[in-house]
Amino acid sequence: MTKNRNLKRRIRARASKTGESYSSARRHVLPPTGPVSIFEGERPADYLLRAAASAAGQAYKALAIEQLAVQPGDTVLDLGCGTGGELEPLLRSLGPGGSLIGVDTDENALRAARERFADPRLRLLTGDAHALHFGDDAVDRVYVDRTAQHLAAPATALDGLRRILRPGGRVVLAEPDWQTLLVDSPEPELAEAYRRFVIDRLIRNPRIGSELPRLVQDAGLRLDTVIPVTATYTDPVEGDRIFGFARVTRRSVAAGYLDQAQADRWLQHLAGRTFFASLTIFITVARRPSVPLC
Ligand SMILES: C[S@@+](CC[C@H](N)C(=O)[O-])C[C@H]1O[C@@H](n2cnc3c(N)ncnc32)[C@H](O)[C@@H]1O
Repeated sequence: MTKNRNLKRRIRARASKTGESYSSARRHVLPPTGPVSIFEGERPADYLLRAAASAAGQAYKALAIEQLAVQPGDTVLDLGCGTGGELEPLLRSLGPGGSLIGVDTDENALRAARERFADPRLRLLTGDAHALHFGDDAVDRVYVDRTAQHLAAPATALDGLRRILRPGGRVVLAEPDWQTLLVDSPEPELAEAYRRFVIDRLIRNPRIGSELPRLVQDAGLRLDTVIPVTATYTDPVEGDRIFGFARVTRRSVAAGYLDQAQADRWLQHLAGRTFFASLTIFITVARRPSVPLC
């Protein structure tokens, strides 16, 4: 009885917050039922940390941090550090005299990160990638991990990064290109519609992974290398932890990319025995030239 009342309260709270109808809010609050109940109804609070801890997350982060080539005594900026998914390996890469600064706009994420780390070499600051409060030439290394995909103006942020990087300093950006999202379905048009929704409506800069080699050069940085890392998933539960199939499908129905019957068939297949999905993250490595590029 109390459980039901709590549920109704959560549905009403969501409906008043989002302005949607009671039944639409109900679909968001209630977890999916039937064969697709293996998928999560709502994004859990520890979503970022789980993604970072996954085998795929650890693999590309390790490679990207290796490319950062941190030197003893370096000052490293983790721009868009979130709840701190890469702070541990970044701290490991740092010598005893170095320092790491995590910056994010999200106060709640920073609070969660502060609770996890108490290292005198680490500072966690509120800040916006488009207007960083650092002096010129202030940092030796900048690490950006799946943050550029969300920025309103990535070119502005890159200009700022060039300014705060010391000459010769290095920036590593690990960003997906959502055009590479492959999800197997016996009805490929459903996979195509789902990917279209993700590209058109879900991610602000869905092509950033393949745009960055151009954008870093436009910002006056020298491009060193681009390393693609393709994560593959054959377990639907593991894939769902990254892609959030139930909630993204629900939104793609609301936006008219799939109808409800198609969405049901799509999820039904994904929840089956033969799941396959993949996504490529591009690690772009660039540095601020010692003399300005003309
Ligand atoms: C997908 S999360 C990645 C977090 C972390 N790098 C990781 O891999 O676990 C993107 C992060 O970028 C942050 N972000 C978005 N826009 C930002 C901005 N303008 N300035 C700084 N951080 C921003 C978000 O708050 C979020 O924590």
